[in-house]
Amino acid sequence: MRVLVTGGAGFIGSHIVEHYAANGFEVVVLDNFARSKLLGKGAEWSRYNWDYLRSRFQNVELVEADIRDYKQVVDAAAGTDLIVHAAAQVAVTTSLNDPLTDFMINAQGTINVLEAARRHDSAIIFLSTNKVYGDRVNEIPLKDEGTRYWYDQREYLQGIPEDFPIDGSTHTPYGCSKLAADIYVQDYGRVYGLKSAVFRMSCIYGERQFGVEDQGWLAHFARLIIYREPITIYGDGKQVRDVLYVGDLVRAIDRAYTLASKLTGEVFNIGGGPENSLSLLEAIDYISGLEGFRPQLYFKEWRPADQKVYVSDIRKAMKMLDWRPEVGWREGIKRMHKWMSNMMRR
Ligand SMILES: NC(=O)c1ccc[n+]([C@@H]2O[C@H](COP(=O)([O-])OP(=O)(O)OC[C@H]3O[C@@H](n4cnc5c(N)ncnc54)[C@H](O)[C@@H]3O)[C@@H](O)[C@H]2O)c1
Repeated sequence: MRVLVTGGAGFIGSHIVEHYAANGFEVVVLDNFARSKLLGKGAEWSRYNWDYLRSRFQNVELVEADIRDYKQVVDAAAGTDLIVHAAAQVAVTTSLNDPLTDFMINAQGTINVLEAARRHDSAIIFLSTNKVYGDRVNEIPLKDEGTRYWYDQREYLQGIPEDFPIDGSTHTPYGCSKLAADIYVQDYGRVYGLKSAVFRMSCIYGERQFGVEDQGWLAHFARLIIYREPITIYGDGKQVRDVLYVGDLVRAIDRAYTLASKLTGEVFNIGGGPENSLSLLEAIDYISGLEGFRPQLYFKEWRPADQKVYVSDIRKAMKMLDWRPEVGWREGIKRMHKWMSNMMRR
């Protein structure tokens, strides 16, 4: 069996690669190590995940290429049974500064990957985002529970479902380019019968995540607390996300692959769900407790289109994929913190 993981040297991609490599698959990693260039920081870590994989597995091969290059993508996909498409321009802030590059990577790059899947009759799982719902989620009435906001409408107590409206919303260029890609994947499923699934993910976290201010907030906060640095919060810190440990995401991907012959463009909201939701203030409080240090907090204006509360309704994924998150947020953050403390203090 052969798997192609685009963005396989990134945080999530490297966990998917590790899973399939450990299970005896031939795994092709397609990555151009662009994360640090796109985010303007983190260059010292850009090859960490690839070095980790290379040092452990013989059955992992690197194709250093750009998903915007159609031929290279098609060549890398030859003979694959599954493509997990994780490569992306991942930051909302970068997309606001350079929407064209964001579009070319996230939208055009995805078309290339879809065409490669179609030519090689490979199943594809696309990692989409909750940002496709944009700030329309902010129209849901909220209540203030002290350290967090929470939905004040019965209909959404289990979170945001897959059929939540996507029109009439500010998405930001990142949300638009990912939504374009998301819809293309669905359409390739319907029009060409491509075995495909779309995972609209909330906040994924875990070991080997190099969070920066613009992306990967849990890891970013943990790193600042370990380094004894102050934290800047955009908004009041009561915004809520449901968080999912990366190992649980990998299990969901594997479940979707097992069912791939029955999935043609099926969309799943994937996150920790209401049980694994927490606000920025609550997350900082918990990590501070683990670290034994309370950082200074500074508050700035809300970011454009920030979702005040985003919690995934994961009931469809639970039912169709026979899956549920197994690592609760306390345990998962503890694991991430432990890995990070060892890494940062080396
Ligand atoms: N981490 C999260 O919480 C989260 C939430 C929702 C959606 N997602 C999606 O999951 C996917 C993976 O995210 P991540 O957190 O692992 O990010 P990441 O930045 O760690 O990984 C992305 C990888 O893609 C590579 N890449 C970027 N542009 C490329 C290009 N043009 N060609 C080839 N490779 C390229 C980068 O070098 C990087 O290794 C992304 O599609 C992202 O939009 C992530």
